[in-house]
Amino acid sequence: MTRPTDDLITVRDYLRYAASRFSAAELYFGHGTDNVWDEAVLLVMRSLHLPLENNTLFLDARLTRDERELIAERIERRINERRPVAYLLGEAWFMGLPFQVDERVLIPRSPIAELLEAGLQPWLADHPVERILDLCTGSGCIGIAAATVFPDAEVDLADISEDALAVARSNIELHELENRVRTVHSDVLDQVDGVYDVILSNPPYVDAEDMADIPPEYHHEPRLGLEAGPDGLSIVHRILARAADHLAPGGLLIVELGNSWVALDEAYPQLPFLWLDFENGGDGVFLLTREQLVSGLKNMKGNLNTNL
Ligand SMILES: C[S@@+](CC[C@H](N)C(=O)[O-])C[C@H]1O[C@@H](n2cnc3c(N)ncnc32)[C@H](O)[C@@H]1O
Repeated sequence: MTRPTDDLITVRDYLRYAASRFSAAELYFGHGTDNVWDEAVLLVMRSLHLPLENNTLFLDARLTRDERELIAERIERRINERRPVAYLLGEAWFMGLPFQVDERVLIPRSPIAELLEAGLQPWLADHPVERILDLCTGSGCIGIAAATVFPDAEVDLADISEDALAVARSNIELHELENRVRTVHSDVLDQVDGVYDVILSNPPYVDAEDMADIPPEYHHEPRLGLEAGPDGLSIVHRILARAADHLAPGGLLIVELGNSWVALDEAYPQLPFLWLDFENGGDGVFLLTREQLVSGLKNMKGNLNTNL
């Protein structure tokens, strides 16, 4: 029986073969790429430790036997196991930065990257940023990216999963940020100390209906990183209840809620959520200042007391 590795020789051959196989397999793309071609480029080029862009120089280069077998095996696993490419490679990219990932953490993809790229402007204005919290940090991608944008800030990465924090620590080392980025083992804000100028969070927010229906690729990600009760709000309720205690005056709370944003907006009519727009895709991310949070929650409490 002929094997693909007998016939395919060059980088271009493997790109074409991966694209054809992925196309026929009707894979789901939601972990860093959104189409067959980009998925093929990601798998083939990064298996060869080559750049994703400006790589035409290599297209007609021949692969060694080991390289051909490695790529062929990864193509099969992507199709048969529906395993996302990032887990096959052990790496993902966030805000243009590399991160080590494995099945202990969600694959980085939050649109919060776009806000960080803009230095959180215009919302931050000239508010100083000395301390940042990345709550529900997973791989640490959001907090570590924030540390590169705010080079004088101290950054805490908090998560309830010790497994996730081990991955986050390896990413702190990868980016040589041990002097100002640290991990905190915490159930939401319960073990977090002090106040921050910015709290960024991509918590679990998938509701029960979506959980029952997610494509097989997501089953490789930790459930703890995805599911958040019947309406997707179980963690964000706890964040909203405690965040003001951990925000400096004028501080910002930025949280991603994906599809569950509608349920949150309905649950807190007194909170003036600013739902942010993204040029690179994504939605369901809100921003609140500490003052908006405090006065909104006070108004809600007032209404509840009046109705009693
Ligand atoms: C959606 S993932 C986000 C990971 C990362 N911030 C990102 O954007 O890729 C949510 C993370 O929240 C963590 N988590 C779940 N429940 C938590 C809790 N009660 N307290 C703190 N972290 C929690 C999970 O372990 C997971 O790493």
